[in-house]
Amino acid sequence: MIHTPICDLLDIEHPIALGGMGSATSPPLVAAVSRAGGLGALGCHYLTPEQIHERTGGVRRETNKPFGLNFLLFDTREDSLAAALELRPAVMQFAWARPDQNLKDYFDRAHEAGCKVTHMAGAVSEAVRAAEAGADIIIAQGTEGGGHVGWMASMPLIPMVVDAVAPIPVLAAGGFADGRGLAAALSLGADGILLGTRFLASVESPLHPNFKQAIVDSDGHDTQLSDIPDIAAGQVWPGAMTRSRRNSFIERWAGREWALRQNRAEAHARLQAARQSGDIDEGPLSMGQDAGLIHDIPRAEDIVRRIAEEAEEILARKLPALVKH
Ligand SMILES: Cc1cc2nc3c(=O)[nH]c(=O)nc-3n(C[C@H](O)[C@H](O)[C@H](O)COP(=O)(O)O)c2cc1C
Repeated sequence: MIHTPICDLLDIEHPIALGGMGSATSPPLVAAVSRAGGLGALGCHYLTPEQIHERTGGVRRETNKPFGLNFLLFDTREDSLAAALELRPAVMQFAWARPDQNLKDYFDRAHEAGCKVTHMAGAVSEAVRAAEAGADIIIAQGTEGGGHVGWMASMPLIPMVVDAVAPIPVLAAGGFADGRGLAAALSLGADGILLGTRFLASVESPLHPNFKQAIVDSDGHDTQLSDIPDIAAGQVWPGAMTRSRRNSFIERWAGREWALRQNRAEAHARLQAARQSGDIDEGPLSMGQDAGLIHDIPRAEDIVRRIAEEAEEILARKLPALVKH
């Protein structure tokens, strides 16, 4: 079995975590990942305090294993954050702070509530900022990943972050979907991986079945970075672009963002309706390039087990056999 310092720090069996992905996470998905020995995380930034209590209760009814609550710092409601801290989750998973926000204030509050703190960074400077503010774990997120990402690819970013924040442990994110990814991340100096897209295509994922199938059907070459979904949603992020599936909606507005701003309300309404009805041409689907590695829709428990077993096979047998003494 692969065991890294993150397993002890977080009291988990496998160094495999779920990214808190807003409405793309749900209590059943979070509980399934944690029950399988990984670390589940519930996206909370858009939830009211009441919803946070209700959904955290939903996770706790299904498992007593550790899990995290995820907040986008630039867009965090104080009452929701306070509600989350009251619930004393094992982990507070933060991401996307504005440059003027003081990370230490947030991290100290989480520590006072007895939580471990993770912070996601897409650049070395952001990782160092979080390390200096007292994060327990840095999540180094490469641009291959789904959702909001930065500009650096996982391959150079991960070892650069590992070196910059040592001895603080690092979880690698962005482009990881199988045991080969976990073995590679460990070789780059990370202590584990955090996955988004892979868990979207799981039985427990709350995504519409058409969106899950679109991930399975993707060859990984059909994603693109754009701020079109955010313009439509009327939300400005601190320096992020979204990696999502290239579809009719994205193509219609690419290069015509000014026109999208002009027709924002109508475009947003169409987009919401398409998401509800499972229209993959008109609804935005955030997914990473690793969609090309995803060929089925298994239970989250099986995803965790398969990744752990495949990585162990590579590290314990395949790679050692290549070393000649
Ligand atoms: C649909 C979707 C929504 C996401 N929302 C969030 C979020 O709310 N908070 C966050 O920290 N990360 C979010 N992410 C990023 C993930 O936490 C993770 O870094 C990313 O998915 C890793 O890349 P992968 O998709 O290749 O596994 C999101 C990703 C996706 C695909």
